[in-house]
Amino acid sequence: MCGIIGYIGKQRVAPIILEGLKRLEYRGYDSAGIAVINKNKVSVLKRKGRIANLENLLKKRQVSGELGIGHTRWATHGAPSTKNAHPHCDCSGRIAVVHNGIIENYQELKRELEKDDYRFKSQTDSEVIPNLISKFYKGNLEKALREAMKKLKGSYALGIVSADEPEKILAVRNDSPLIIGLGKGENFIASDVPAILKHTKKVIYLQNRQLAVIEKDNVDISDLEGNKVSPKIDSVSYSIEAAQKGGFRDFMLKEIYEQPAVVSKILSQWVSPEGNIDFRDIEQIIIVACGTAFHAGLVGKYVLESLVRIPVWVDLASEFRYRKPIIKKNTLIIAISQSGETADTLAAVREAKKSKAKLISICNVLGSSLTRESDVNLDTYAGPEVSVASTKAYTAQLMTLYLLALYLAKLKQNLNKDELKKAISSLQKVAAAQKKILDKNKDIKRIARKHLHFGAFLYLGRGVNFPNALEGALKLKELSYIPAEGYAAGEMKHGPIALIDEYRAIVCIANDSPVYDKMLSNIQEGLARKGKIIAIATQGNEQIKSYVKEVIFIPKIEPLFSPLLTVIPLQLLAYYVACLKGYDVDKPRNLAKSVTVE
Ligand code: M6R
Repeated sequence: MCGIIGYIGKQRVAPIILEGLKRLEYRGYDSAGIAVINKNKVSVLKRKGRIANLENLLKKRQVSGELGIGHTRWATHGAPSTKNAHPHCDCSGRIAVVHNGIIENYQELKRELEKDDYRFKSQTDSEVIPNLISKFYKGNLEKALREAMKKLKGSYALGIVSADEPEKILAVRNDSPLIIGLGKGENFIASDVPAILKHTKKVIYLQNRQLAVIEKDNVDISDLEGNKVSPKIDSVSYSIEAAQKGGFRDFMLKEIYEQPAVVSKILSQWVSPEGNIDFRDIEQIIIVACGTAFHAGLVGKYVLESLVRIPVWVDLASEFRYRKPIIKKNTLIIAISQSGETADTLAAVREAKKSKAKLISICNVLGSSLTRESDVNLDTYAGPEVSVASTKAYTAQLMTLYLLALYLAKLKQNLNKDELKKAISSLQKVAAAQKKILDKNKDIKRIARKHLHFGAFLYLGRGVNFPNALEGALKLKELSYIPAEGYAAGEMKHGPIALIDEYRAIVCIANDSPVYDKMLSNIQEGLARKGKIIAIATQGNEQIKSYVKEVIFIPKIEPLFSPLLTVIPLQLLAYYVACLKGYDVDKPRNLAKSVTVE
C-alpha cells in the first residue's frame, strides 16, 4: 500500500526514483511524486494518476540533484489528486516527506498545528508529518523527527529529506515495511526489494521502530531511544529478471505460467520445519490470513483435518483480532501471507502471540515482518509476485500446506510409509498436470470471450474445492469488476439458486472426487433454470459432455490435491475476461498489492 523510494549518491536522482517507482507501482497507482534536493532547495513534482503521468511531467520539467525521495500512492485519506499526492512539504517548503501507512490522530495534530499557524494544502493524514517535524526543528533533523514520532499514532514508514540538511535521507518504520539498499558511494530506501534490485542486492530490512540516517557513504541505524543498532545485511536471492515480465504480456500471465516451476521448487526444497515448536504437542490449529491467502487457509483446513485429524479453524485476519479468540495451550497458529506485510494478518498474529501461541508462517518474502515475528517460517519459493492478483503465491501456499500436513500426519503416525510415498508421488505429478492445463489457454480464452458480457457469475465447488470457488470468484471480481460469488454448491438450494436465470454464468468445479455426483446434480439444477454452465472436469469424463457445452478438462489427480489443478483454469478465465474487456490486469482499479493498512 503506497510505494516509497529514496536515493542518495553521485548519479542524477530523478531517473533512479522514476525507475524505482515503476517497480513499486503495484503497491498503489493513483498518484505519484518526487522531491529532489538541489542547491539547498526542495523541488517537488507530482501528478495524479499512473507513474507515466509523472514521467511526462519530468520530461517537460527536468530536475537535477543527487538526493531525493519518491512515492506512488494508494489513497486512504483524501481523494486521488495531484494535491494529495506525496511528497508532502511543511509550510516553509524546506522539509519533504513520503509516507506509507495511516496517521490515526492526524486530525488532532492538524488542529494543534493550525493553532500555531501551520497551513495545510491537502486532505491527507500525511501532511501533518513534515509540519510536525518542522515545528520541532531547531537545527537537527533527526532530533526533530524523534520528537515528532512521540506525537504520531498509527502505522508509518517514512522517507524524509530537508533542504537544511542536504546530505542525508532519514527513514523510519513503525508497522509499515521499509528496506535500505546498500551500494558503493550510494544508498537507497524502498518499500520493497524490486525497486532497487537493479542497483544492489545488499539490503537491510529496517525493523519496527528503528530510525536510519542514510548518507551516500554511510548508514546509521538506531532505536527510538537513540541507541545504535548493528543491522543484519541480507543478500537478495533472486535476480532482476525474476521481477520482470520476461516476454509475457503482463506479470499476471507470467506468474500463472510460473506455477509448475514453483510447485516443483517447493517439493525439491522441502525440509521438515525446524524451530522451537514441538509439533507433537499440537491439539488444534488456527489459520489466519486475508484474501487469496485466506482461501489457501480454507483448503488447508480440509487437508489438515483429513490427514492430521486435529481440529482446524480458519479466520479472516481482520476478524480474528477483534473477536476475542479462544487460544488454548497447544494451539498452533498458521499465518499465511504472500507479502508478509499485510497489516490485518500481522495484527492477528500479534493478538495470538499475547496468548503465547506458537506461530508458523507460510510466506513468500523472507525478511518481511511476518517471517521475523514467527517461530518458524515456511518459504513458499514463488519469487517476486508483482501482479496485484495473486496466482503463483496461492498454489505455492497450497503446496506448502500439503507438505506441512503430510509432515504432521507422519509425526502423529496417521499415515504409514506407503501412504506417504503415494501422496508425495501424486504431488510430484502436479507440475506436469498444471502444464497440460496451461496448454489449453486458447480454449479458455474462447470461453472467456463467449461469457464476457454476462453481468454476474457464480462459482460452485464442494469439499476441498469449495475454497477454489471463492478464489475463482475473487479473481474475476478484482480483475474484471464483474459481480461474482463463490458458493459451496450444497448451499445453492438454501437461497442463492434464486439468482439463476439465462443471464447467469455458473462455473462448476466438478472434477472426479467423492462429491462428483453431488456436483453433477447441482449442474443439472443450474441447467434446469437456464444457467450457462462452464464445468471443470477430469479428463476422460465423457458423461459431463452430454450435459454441459463448455467443459475445461484437467488431468486425473488424487481428489485431495485437486485444488492445485482446478484453480489454474479459474485464474486463466478471469485473466482473459479482464484482458478482453481491455482492463489493466496487473493493476486493477482501487487495489494495491500489499495491504499495509487496517
Ligand atoms: O500479501 P498477502 O498474501 O497477505 O495478501 C493478502 C491479500 O491482500 C491478497 O491475497 C489479495 O486478496 C489479492 N489481491 C488477491 O488476488
